[in-house]
Amino acid sequence: MGDDQGEQATMKAMTYEKYGASDVLSLSERPVPKVGPGEVLVRVRYAAVNPVDWKVMSGGLDGMMDTFFPVIPGWDVSGVVERVGIDTPEFEPGDEVFAYARKDYVHGGTFAEFVTVPVRALAAKPRSLNWGEAAGIPLAGLTAYQTLTRLDTGSGDTVLVHGASGGVGTFGVQIARALGARVIGTASESNHDRLRDLGAEPVSYGDGLVDRVKALAPEGVDVVVDYVGGVLDTTRAVLKDGGRHASIADPDVMAAGGQWMWARPDAAGLRALAALADEGKLRVPVAETFDLERTGEAFDLSRTGHVHGKILVRVSGE
Ligand SMILES: NC(=O)c1ccc[n+]([C@@H]2O[C@H](COP(=O)([O-])OP(=O)(O)OC[C@H]3O[C@@H](n4cnc5c(N)ncnc54)[C@H](OP(=O)(O)O)[C@@H]3O)[C@@H](O)[C@H]2O)c1
Repeated sequence: MGDDQGEQATMKAMTYEKYGASDVLSLSERPVPKVGPGEVLVRVRYAAVNPVDWKVMSGGLDGMMDTFFPVIPGWDVSGVVERVGIDTPEFEPGDEVFAYARKDYVHGGTFAEFVTVPVRALAAKPRSLNWGEAAGIPLAGLTAYQTLTRLDTGSGDTVLVHGASGGVGTFGVQIARALGARVIGTASESNHDRLRDLGAEPVSYGDGLVDRVKALAPEGVDVVVDYVGGVLDTTRAVLKDGGRHASIADPDVMAAGGQWMWARPDAAGLRALAALADEGKLRVPVAETFDLERTGEAFDLSRTGHVHGKILVRVSGE
């Protein structure tokens, strides 16, 4: 690719022209995006799948975000800075980075050879992780980090993590432990050993959950983070008086005095997550890796709702 923004360089990208299921996705040639002020152009090594990718593709967020077709989906990325826009002194070509590349509208995402990212959404890649693991962190890691820090989680707290074995929950357990908290995590029984390995005390979700949590924490819990939705009654039943709670999947949480949260692009948060990874406190379990043209299969796997670890898409390199 040349240096002139005006030339019509193209790239491979997964795109869709209308809302739908994975059959609307196809591998296309698209123009390499122009790099705006305050943005950098990243040559993508890996992208990662999140449930929001196929929810956006289905039209589920149409009432909330402007969408410009054709859409290149994807918000998680690791890669190398190819070119910088005006006033981006933090980065230079060749920097190894990872990013939560969500913009304020839906159009140019990470399942492509190149993506532009505002510097507010970008940080140096954790040195100890490979490209795939690094791509698995940003959206889910920031979601977990922002919910737990918004609730002032710290040493002495007992935290209940609903959905502890999912992409967000896996990071939530590890971050809460790194913040010094005791963690009880809900997951199906087949994932209990994985949760113990991450430092949580596992409990099965479903009927009797309140009793199982109370058996472990008879005084109640200080903090509840809901990474699943539909669990507000349990949250209320196990939270101590004055306890704090948040959900990423249930707006009703607000009427119950909790925080309804949507992960924000946040360079400082990414740097904190990279530091945890490099200190050995944040591992990235990987469920499966797909090549770019198989992104639809990766979405379908995510849609099953019972994936253990991050689903990755390899765009270039090993
Ligand atoms: N607001 C935000 O900013 C934000 C950010 C990220 C994600 N989200 C949303 O949060 C949800 C989770 O995302 P994710 O990336 O973690 O998804 P994921 O990786 O697909 O994880 C789903 C997990 O949910 C678990 N699960 C299913 N039903 C459960 C229940 N009733 N109780 C406890 N766990 C249950 C499954 O565990 P088992 O296999 O053990 O059953 C599975 O591990 C999705 O709806 C996603 O769209 C919101």
